[in-house]
Amino acid sequence: MRIGIINSGGDVQGINAVISSVVHAGHKLGHEFLGFIKGWEGLLDKDFIHLDIEAVRGISHVGGTILYSVNKGRFAGKSGSDGAVNKIPDEVIVSAKANCHELGIDALIVIGGDGTLTGALQLAEAGINIIGVPKTIDNDLQDVDRTFGFSTAVNVAVEAIDRIHTTAHSHQRFFFVETMGRHAGWIALHSGVGGGADAILLPEFPFSYTGLLNFMRTRREDERNYALIVVSEGAHAQDEAIVAEKLVGLPEVKLGGVSAEIMNRLERLAPGEFDMRNVVLGHIQRGGTPNADDRVLAKAYGVAAVQALQDGHFGQVVCMHGGQMQVVPIQHTVGKLKLITPDDITYRTAVGLGVYLGD
Ligand code: F6P
Repeated sequence: MRIGIINSGGDVQGINAVISSVVHAGHKLGHEFLGFIKGWEGLLDKDFIHLDIEAVRGISHVGGTILYSVNKGRFAGKSGSDGAVNKIPDEVIVSAKANCHELGIDALIVIGGDGTLTGALQLAEAGINIIGVPKTIDNDLQDVDRTFGFSTAVNVAVEAIDRIHTTAHSHQRFFFVETMGRHAGWIALHSGVGGGADAILLPEFPFSYTGLLNFMRTRREDERNYALIVVSEGAHAQDEAIVAEKLVGLPEVKLGGVSAEIMNRLERLAPGEFDMRNVVLGHIQRGGTPNADDRVLAKAYGVAAVQALQDGHFGQVVCMHGGQMQVVPIQHTVGKLKLITPDDITYRTAVGLGVYLGD
């Protein structure tokens, strides 16, 4: 078969390991691979490279993606802070289909998160054979226990928290450390528990400024006039919207800046009471080399994707679930996000440790 590989949306550590593993596993079965540059844009512009064993040599441990990526573009499946579904224009679907036929593509392996897979679903419904590989640093896809990149992002955040801890302690300061996590706070929760945070603010559990101030004052009364407060970028106070910035000319919103917003608000509510600083970890969580777990997981996803291809599981996404690789329909994976619930083991651990998690 002639297979096209597409990766789209935000990069994560491990995409190259997936690409390499797909090519290696598929090569043994006699398949041929084309890698589209910048995802769907490459398919629409017929911009691609041939991916043989030589082309993927030495890329598994390298961060980013050799195929480049764009977050939006002509094939954006979702938009806005609420993740509304975008209908891909008919002419774009027609053009993508025509290019697949012209290039002799038998199937596409699409590596992507919620938005990318929502776009992929529309192309699958138009008759193109698609196997999805879930990709998101946020680890928030339904029925997917773990996406590659998440573990490395948590490691990066924990290392940052460890470093901030010592300076917070020395200066007796309250530090807000902002992590990625748009609708789901998995990175904040895991790095917060792993790094020994005193408070973790999550999109799923709105906080109150009164509760936060009480927590900080209690810390001070306990003669610990400092704290590490990990904030997921989608965290928000009760009855308040997330902090987001509308991008000029695009329906998309950019998150980030909530930790500064919270800190400034607290300063206005309790002027001069606390010495506060904030640090936004941003894209360093997504950059650099994947750790060993993410490399292994990414390779497992690549091999599973080729197996799904062999088995003809088109319109399905491979997903690690219950320690096994399975396939589920694309619409199932993108239908609903996997959010933190009070039953989650790490959330319960944080509760047990007395971490402030909102009100
Ligand atoms: O969805 C993944 C994610 O990393 C979010 O956590 C973050 O809000 C977003 O992507 C940032 O993406 P970018 O800055 O690349 O547009």
